[in-house]
Amino acid sequence: MLATLPRMCGIVGYVGQRPALSIVLDGLRRLEYRGYDSAGIAVVSDGSVRTEKKAGKLANLEKALGERADDGIASGSTAIGHTRWATHGGPTDRNAHPHLSADGRVAVIHNGIIENFARLRAELEATGVEFVSDTDTECAAHLLAAEMAKLRADSAEKDGPQLLAEGMRRVCARLEGAFTLLAVDVQVPDAVVGARRNSPLVVGRGEGENYLASDVSAFIEHTREAVELGQDQVVLITPEGIEITDFTGQTAMGKDFHIDWDASAAEKGGYDYFMLKEIAEQPQAIADTLLGRLSANGEIVLDEVRLTDQDLRDVDKVFIVACGTAYHSGLVAKYAIEHWTRIPCEVEFASEFRYRSPVLDRSTLVIAISQSGETMDTLMALRHAKEQKARVLAICNTNGSTIPRESDAVLYTHGGPEIAVASTKAFLTQLAACYLIGLHLAQVRGVMYADEVAAVVSRLRRTPEKLRDLLGVMEPVRALARDLKDANTILFIGRHVGYPVALEGALKLKELAYMHAEGFGAGELKHGPIALIDQGTPVVCVVPSPAGRGVLHDKIVSNIQEVRARGARTIVIAEEGDEAVKPYADDLITVPRTPTLLAPLVTTVPLQILACEIAAARGHDVDQPRNLAKSVTVE
Ligand code: G6P
Repeated sequence: MLATLPRMCGIVGYVGQRPALSIVLDGLRRLEYRGYDSAGIAVVSDGSVRTEKKAGKLANLEKALGERADDGIASGSTAIGHTRWATHGGPTDRNAHPHLSADGRVAVIHNGIIENFARLRAELEATGVEFVSDTDTECAAHLLAAEMAKLRADSAEKDGPQLLAEGMRRVCARLEGAFTLLAVDVQVPDAVVGARRNSPLVVGRGEGENYLASDVSAFIEHTREAVELGQDQVVLITPEGIEITDFTGQTAMGKDFHIDWDASAAEKGGYDYFMLKEIAEQPQAIADTLLGRLSANGEIVLDEVRLTDQDLRDVDKVFIVACGTAYHSGLVAKYAIEHWTRIPCEVEFASEFRYRSPVLDRSTLVIAISQSGETMDTLMALRHAKEQKARVLAICNTNGSTIPRESDAVLYTHGGPEIAVASTKAFLTQLAACYLIGLHLAQVRGVMYADEVAAVVSRLRRTPEKLRDLLGVMEPVRALARDLKDANTILFIGRHVGYPVALEGALKLKELAYMHAEGFGAGELKHGPIALIDQGTPVVCVVPSPAGRGVLHDKIVSNIQEVRARGARTIVIAEEGDEAVKPYADDLITVPRTPTLLAPLVTTVPLQILACEIAAARGHDVDQPRNLAKSVTVE
């Protein structure tokens, strides 16, 4: 039988004095971006574990709960909840989490993959356990019930929360793979136990109540005090306390941190979609990412640096590894890093990196870019790089997540929570962070002087203002989107840093509008893809500033003429005052003047809005596109 493997899921746990159901459902609502093909909840109430689970979005679960007779599920004050995104097998009610032990006394939810589940399942079935789902998770529920039974038989203290923690440790010792697990046991009514290996889990510290969740947005409404867990740790929460151990039972310390996002940052703030809100937040997100980065003596400040300047001076090669939109920010970074530092820089899909034996050593710097900090492909690329002794620097939006924790240095993008699955503000803040790292490397290596670095930083600091202006004049893009909503295909072309922008524009459209879209290097078009162009084919052309690199500008103007001559409808993104391109633009969208290397910070924005509006016009769920998830925690 094919297992229905949970890939990336949202999990929430609560224990306290208040009815847990609504608190956990609220948390799930905020975590729904992590997966939304089924959802479920288990509440410990009146001596039973009461569960409800439904395929489809959270609304289905809420409807089922609304129709349910009052059996105490609404009043119990201990609960766990799950929102799921599956790969194989249908996302059914039966496969939704929580999963129960055969006696219904233990409930488990899980994010990740239990790799040895087939062996464990066979072993459990041999003892007479009957499985009711196709999931790997169900093994953990049966194992935990069996361990609890053994512990109770052996122990004088029959039902203490400590038994639940010990049961979970014993289960974890048997599991291989990546997992976050949360569990409740009816005989330990005031406790939730959690465990993590290679999968995210944070603790929220309340008063007389505590929380567990995949990320802080699930409990930010209730508390801003959180505890970061380390790898291979078990955490036990009760109304009174939080106890952390490693998998062997040794007491471990979590790292306390204060969440400086407020709850409203995780809400839509009056916009129709999170994506529109996040697009609008981009000026602030860039400003926040740049804040305090230039020290009094003109040096760029990273957040955590476990590397010496000498380590950075020794770097003779840079690899950037990332996925999806973050990969596109890496492609832009390559132009900036090579230009400013003169160090060769390659950009790779994280999922490909380690499989082709890249040549890495102590003098290689690997830059891992990830909004979530949990993308498994990127994490595995990072670990491979570390095994080969390369230095690793992370660019990440999520404090305390796995990728920055395992890196030698970190630059956090201060973009705030990004909820829409399609990345927007994370992309622009990643670009800002990449520029800063390029400048830092150039400065440390003595190829740029402090005043040159400061001049670029000051231009970067002017971009939020330019973006605010740009966002105020996007109505023509919205009108264009309505006009293009029935197109079969849209092509995007660009050169230099405009090429990754073209790729990102096409990716946004694919993700959101489910429309065929491709990005090309404008010069490459004539070597094949130009055959795609038919009468009326929309081609979005990202034009560089005529002021910066004149040759580049002239070349793309020629490319625009080439596609136009073959019937294309040219949608030109060009700098204000660029007269030369006007005669060749069927639709012209102007962006503020920006230095060539920094231009993606502005040219990407109309493409984000175009994709968002086309998707909305086609009636799609903009924030949660089909088949996608925000954070992909398996390879
Ligand atoms: C997923 C998301 C993309 C994102 C990519 C990398 O595929 O759907 O929007 O760009 O992961 O995510 P990361 O969190 O590593 O930046």
